[in-house]
Amino acid sequence: MSSFLFITDLDHTFVGDDSALEILQQQLSEHRRQHGTKIVYATGRSPTLYRQLQAEKALLEPNALISSVGTEIYFTENDEIPDLEWSEWLSSGWNREVIVTLAADFPALISQPDSEQRPFKVSYVISPTDYETVAPQLQARLQAQNLTTRLIYSGSQDLDILPVNGNKGLAMQFLAKRWQIEPHRTVACGDSGNDIDLFQVGAERGILVGNAKPELLAWYQTNHSPHLYLAKAYYAAGILEGLIHFGFITKE
Ligand code: GLC
Ligand code: MG
Repeated sequence: MSSFLFITDLDHTFVGDDSALEILQQQLSEHRRQHGTKIVYATGRSPTLYRQLQAEKALLEPNALISSVGTEIYFTENDEIPDLEWSEWLSSGWNREVIVTLAADFPALISQPDSEQRPFKVSYVISPTDYETVAPQLQARLQAQNLTTRLIYSGSQDLDILPVNGNKGLAMQFLAKRWQIEPHRTVACGDSGNDIDLFQVGAERGILVGNAKPELLAWYQTNHSPHLYLAKAYYAAGILEGLIHFGFITKE
């Protein structure tokens, strides 16, 4: 066995089945101890909401945290300021105030709590039917202002407006480059829309947990690849199934 880069979404992917999580965490921490495997969380949550979940579920200390849907990267737990190189990379073509003003013209967009409004992430809640009508109009308004943003819809409710270069997949590649880990030794896990970028930026291995959300399954329908594995099992059990499938770990 040798080291790899393990990247996982938290809600409904790593977290969701407490007893499977315990087994998976035990295996990962042993792998890290023996082989130097790196553990990274890639979550939509802000650092504040991440810390709540980490305490609640006694999550392993990661080697890095990708928070706020790939727009912030932290290397140590108590970092107040996210990686500066990454923030600089995100700032071109981004203007938070203009985005917030434009979005205010759409009453169907309901603002998420303040903790989830981040320097490079503007977040709303919107129903799937309203999203279908609002998304193209909002896109057009953003483009007309020369803002290079991306809309990401997750869990049939959350809309994140992000810089075009800021997503979980590109943040994963930033870390892999920094640590010099090859795509075939990198594996990412997810369940929803904001995880699609983890699976489509390159040749990294991807595990879609069995409980994947409709928007991720719909994407997968037209994006099959030997690098991607749709697990049968849910949550952490699905991750274990995928890690064994790709040969990153062996069956106990
Ligand atoms: C997390 C974040 C939220 C975001 C969602 C989807 O729940 O807290 O702000 O919209 O992930 O990315
Ligand atoms: Mg999730």
